[in-house]
Amino acid sequence: MNMMLRRLSRAATAGLVAAAALTAAAHSAEAADTLGSAAAGQGRYFGTAVAAGHLGEADYTATLDREFGSVTPENEMKWDATEPSRGTFTFASADRIVDHAQSRGMDVRGHTLVWHSQLPSWVGTLGASDLRTAMKDHISGLMGHYKGEIHSWDVVNEAFQDGGSGARRSSPFQDKLGDGFIEEAFRAARAADPAAKLCYNDYNTDGVNAKSTAVYNMVKDFTSRGVPIDCVGFQSHFNSNSPVPSDYRQNLQRFADLGVDVQITELDIEGSGSAQAADYTKVVQACLAVERCTGMTVWGVTDKYSWRSGGTPLLFDGNYAEKPAYDAVLSALGGSGGPGEPGGPGEGTATCTATYTRTADWNGGYNGEVTVTAGSEPIGSWTATVTLPARQSVSALWNGTAAFNGNVMTVRPSWNGALAAGTSTTFGFTVTKNGSDAAPAVGACTAS
Ligand code: XIL
Repeated sequence: MNMMLRRLSRAATAGLVAAAALTAAAHSAEAADTLGSAAAGQGRYFGTAVAAGHLGEADYTATLDREFGSVTPENEMKWDATEPSRGTFTFASADRIVDHAQSRGMDVRGHTLVWHSQLPSWVGTLGASDLRTAMKDHISGLMGHYKGEIHSWDVVNEAFQDGGSGARRSSPFQDKLGDGFIEEAFRAARAADPAAKLCYNDYNTDGVNAKSTAVYNMVKDFTSRGVPIDCVGFQSHFNSNSPVPSDYRQNLQRFADLGVDVQITELDIEGSGSAQAADYTKVVQACLAVERCTGMTVWGVTDKYSWRSGGTPLLFDGNYAEKPAYDAVLSALGGSGGPGEPGGPGEGTATCTATYTRTADWNGGYNGEVTVTAGSEPIGSWTATVTLPARQSVSALWNGTAAFNGNVMTVRPSWNGALAAGTSTTFGFTVTKNGSDAAPAVGACTAS
């Protein structure tokens, strides 16, 4: 089909479906939030990777359509899928995903134009000048087909080596064209679809480390020289060997401070239960804390089709049931759940407990720490009270915000409000004794 016709017919269908969705929403005042609607309330998109081969499965498609606002074709836009032999483009599988998404008003992320993997063997046989032409033709052929239909493209994927060297990874592009291939790809991409955000995407770059710093330096160089780049994608494939880094937010922020958007592009976290839920909470909170973190994509709908299915790393189990990680993400996004779930109708079961310990002691003062633990339901926020003995006063507080009424200190979270079921956070404070060594009393914890 010719491009113009494709776009017109897609736009018309999307409009009809959006109108139908509005009518449905008006009839169900108590509808629970979804991942997509809760994220939209925070000005973010929440997406998933999609495989065309599963779109015929009713439960898969129902979950996809209900929960997500953006899709990334998991494999269908890769070079081996779209240009298996030189100059012959095959878009059928990717078109299925894009058509499906557009008919439901979802956005599409493009993944990926230039990558060493899932690359057809003919590319590796070309000499430098032919390779340069083939790379540019691939970019203009693929981006041109979807011109105006993709919100962000991963222009170059995984061009840096793992480990401490900060070096570029060997690939046909790197080996024959040198470092400059990345910049050439971005320039060709801007020309092919000026409306798309152009991203560099990689893994093990989620925290501050030698690899992420090498990418950071490249982005800084690009922005200073006017090489077109709009965003950096952080794949965020986590497991016990590669846990959610403690400086995730700081790392996202330092890229954002270069003047580019940041996106979490392939999120999955191996594990289960409350530990997995707590890790998901950390990731969502990190994105929400960075203004230029424009959205998150999980790398699949259901554990059973995950590329790491053994690690059950996603938000829905193999039967499409919502996992604790789902509740945690929804709650971290500020969403209300369904009946009996946090913020949903009949809710009120969210509870927490607070326990106190003295963590340091000296002549004139001490440090106290309160551990706040969510009950059997995830919580969106908490409040704890600490009553100080006469004469004592608080001189510092961390991981919380305090309001004082006489000797009663009411503490609410600063960044650490959302807790998955059974998980904990702490806040701490320094007390001046003024001659009294008595312990403070920690009152009831309330959760919401
Ligand atoms: C993975 C897909 O999920 C698998 O189905 C496929 O067999 C291999 O690729 N980094 C990326 C993604 O950028 O494209 C990869 O996706 C996962 C790692």
